[in-house]
Amino acid sequence: MKTFIFPGSFDPFSLGHMDIARRSAQLCDKLVVAIMENRAKTSLFTVEERVHMAELCLKDVPNIEVISRESLLVDLYRELDASAVVRGLRSESDFRYEAEMNAANTLMFPNYQVIFLPCRADLAFTSSSIIKEVAYYGGDISRMVVPAVEDMVHKKMLEKQAEKT
Ligand code: PNS
Repeated sequence: MKTFIFPGSFDPFSLGHMDIARRSAQLCDKLVVAIMENRAKTSLFTVEERVHMAELCLKDVPNIEVISRESLLVDLYRELDASAVVRGLRSESDFRYEAEMNAANTLMFPNYQVIFLPCRADLAFTSSSIIKEVAYYGGDISRMVVPAVEDMVHKKMLEKQAEKT
């Protein structure tokens, strides 16, 4: 039984994330999409909202499970007896960050294995931060997220703007 983990903050879950999840699910028996905390970022969505978004995007793929976890990634890796972590790569700047994370995770757990999948070329320059920035100013994010996530992002932005007034 080969279990892969696709971890991330997924704030929000984008078409790029969806593509990586679907492609990696074809390479393993079970893919666990793990909504985790990145302490360098402040999340717009709650963990429950992010789990809901990932589930909406992936509900038709039988070997994908979405979970949330507040722990070190290597602890989850050990617990699930995972074979690899999957991360999407967009650019060289992603690679630098991923190499640092990989080094730390391997020092903590030498059996840790990461697989990098290149992002779809047309999505290579979108990110959750860009999606939030565009949506904040009322821009069109329909080519970056699925319609249900688009609605959730716009609703959240309206709440944020209402909080400011
Ligand atoms: O989508 P992101 O924000 O790039 O994902 C980063 C994430 C959540 C995978 C990373 O911050 C993480 O693994 N967090 C869990 C805590 C942990 O293990 N931190 C050490 C990583 S070196």
